[in-house]
Amino acid sequence: MNAIEASHLIKRFGSVTAVNDVSLTVCEGEIFGFLGPNGTGKTTTMRQLTGVLTPDSGAVRINGIDIHRHPLEAKMQMGVIPENSTVYGDLSAEQNLSLSGQMYGMPRADRDKRIDEFFSRMGLSEKRKLPVRGFSKGMKQRVSIACAIIHRPPLLLLDEPTSGLDVQSRRLVIDTIRDMNEQGSTIFLTTHNIEEANTLCQTVCILNKGKIVAQDSPERLKKMFNTTQSVEVSFDRPVTRDLFAAEGILRAESCGDKWKIFTDNPDQVLKYLVGRAERESITITSLTTSGPSLEEAFVRITECA
Ligand SMILES: Nc1ncnc2c1ncn2[C@@H]1O[C@H](COP(=O)(O)OP(=O)(O)OP(=O)(O)O)[C@@H](O)[C@H]1O
Ligand SMILES: [Mg+2]
Repeated sequence: MNAIEASHLIKRFGSVTAVNDVSLTVCEGEIFGFLGPNGTGKTTTMRQLTGVLTPDSGAVRINGIDIHRHPLEAKMQMGVIPENSTVYGDLSAEQNLSLSGQMYGMPRADRDKRIDEFFSRMGLSEKRKLPVRGFSKGMKQRVSIACAIIHRPPLLLLDEPTSGLDVQSRRLVIDTIRDMNEQGSTIFLTTHNIEEANTLCQTVCILNKGKIVAQDSPERLKKMFNTTQSVEVSFDRPVTRDLFAAEGILRAESCGDKWKIFTDNPDQVLKYLVGRAERESITITSLTTSGPSLEEAFVRITECA
């Protein structure tokens, strides 16, 4: 059975059609990445999948259960981490978890055991009795995730769970997602972090202007544009963009102290860069070539759609 089946979802807000005939299937056990530019309808779609928002038309089934006909039954199957944290500021971290466990009907002993597990794992032990209101964004997000998975849901839906988090918090969130998945949960993940989607997801679905424009494995999406590769180069002194106006260079982006050059012909670009640097007495301090990236596929797909 599929974990999520959404068919022909449409949602309008006044004259804006936020979600325009979206159908998607998330297979049981997979990590499904949901990507798309800002304002393209990802959150609106996810809110319909989780039963927060009723679609104007279309249907959603969670493990075969129609969420609009049997909302409670469907919602018991899932853990949800929405775009904005929904933890209760006046309650302590521990009370938030306990409340969430109670709402999912967990017996007290089971709940207490799970709560202890979380605090030892999430590194918030010394704060468990403090009101969440005083927590930082990353700490709140940890509590929010713990609340959503306390009942070990077979399906976990997350809307940009790592946005704005530091490296440690981000890793903790990613590790939690991986662990849940290894223990059998299906994951629906909305993210702007393409590298995250690339390394975590079996399937990536790209939404643009309310419509699905691509859906496949990261590797197959990259192969759609497998002619484009990139060369990353840095020099011992600043150079201007004019340096990259040469045959074979499709696009050059300045990335911090490096330049990223997109090309169909890395050999031609490497020879050009070496020759030009030599003529102008510039030292190349680093040079790497990479295969096609999911980011490039994403940009091309959303540009041409
Ligand atoms: N409650 C609402 N009322 C009116 N318009 C809305 C509402 N929710 C979303 N929209 C509109 O629907 C469109 C899609 O918004 P949505 O939040 O789903 O995008 P998103 O893909 O999640 O964007 P982001 O990457 O910025 O989170 C936008 O044009 C937004 O302004
Ligand atoms: Mg959103």
